[in-house]
Amino acid sequence: MKDFHDLADFQADEINALLELAGRLESSPEPHALAGKVLALLFLSPSLRTLASFQAAMTRLGGGSFVISPNMSIHGLETRPGIVMDGMAAEHIREAVPVIASYADAIGIRAFAERESLEADLTDKEFNSMRELCEIPRINMESAINHPCQSLADWKTMDDLGVPRSGGKFVLSWAYHPRALPLAVPAATVHMAAMRGMDVSVLRPEGFELPDAIMQKAAAAAEKSGGSVVETSDHDAALEGANIIYAKSWSSTKHYGNRPADEEFRRGLDDWCVDEPWFEKAHDDCRFMHCLPVRRGVVVADRILDGPRSIVIQEARNRMYAQMAVLHQMLVNS
Ligand code: CP
Repeated sequence: MKDFHDLADFQADEINALLELAGRLESSPEPHALAGKVLALLFLSPSLRTLASFQAAMTRLGGGSFVISPNMSIHGLETRPGIVMDGMAAEHIREAVPVIASYADAIGIRAFAERESLEADLTDKEFNSMRELCEIPRINMESAINHPCQSLADWKTMDDLGVPRSGGKFVLSWAYHPRALPLAVPAATVHMAAMRGMDVSVLRPEGFELPDAIMQKAAAAAEKSGGSVVETSDHDAALEGANIIYAKSWSSTKHYGNRPADEEFRRGLDDWCVDEPWFEKAHDDCRFMHCLPVRRGVVVADRILDGPRSIVIQEARNRMYAQMAVLHQMLVNS
């Protein structure tokens, strides 16, 4: 495997092979598989899980890793192309990425959406411009429009718990958050659940429709897998019979890139906080998922997050095993 940017770059049997490998590495550790290999981790945005799980994954496979982020004691990093660097930043990403890559066997890059232009973010402009700066295998650790590591871990979590693929109902529900958040997780999640063969409902208020490009990509995955994808603002229709309620907030499509307008638009939607009534018509053992970090009492009630339906800790733990599988496929015998 040369790159891990998007689950859509893989066939279903390739994803199944990765999931099988992740399960094998969980039950039968291989502490020397990546001895002598180095993973570079470039974080241009904050992280807890991605940072810790990649470092733990490399260590458990016998390799090493190093982290570069603007919060560290490094020269200020400039990411804008064609800029005259007469401000605070002393180093451009055009040198930084190839230098970092020259120390490593693979590189993970995290660069959140700029959230100025929906069109630019949908093409993953910033992430793509960075990955083109190096030749070694590259991993998307969350870009403007994708989070494949989260999706692989979420898929494994559902498999581990026996959540049905075919015929399973997956509800991706918008949830309230005071700020406009990126589309990366909802875009990756709706595609993952469709590719897994589930019947996917995207539940959101009017004005928070997922962009057509995201829905069309998910619909194409569903067509191949035998699943389905619909979008609705009807709570009862969406939640009835759900096996999974996956909560996430995202920017309004109507006011994308205009934060004050988005914040004004979402005012009054604070009842979109997942709580017991959401599960009334759901499947008896319906589970609650979230990629974390999550705002308690805003996105989801404590009693759900702390209760038996919540599988958020399993999802986070599976980040490590999913990424171990990716790194193993990328770097063993490379
Ligand atoms: N879910 C996720 O990617 O978490 P972090 O932002 O903490 O890495």
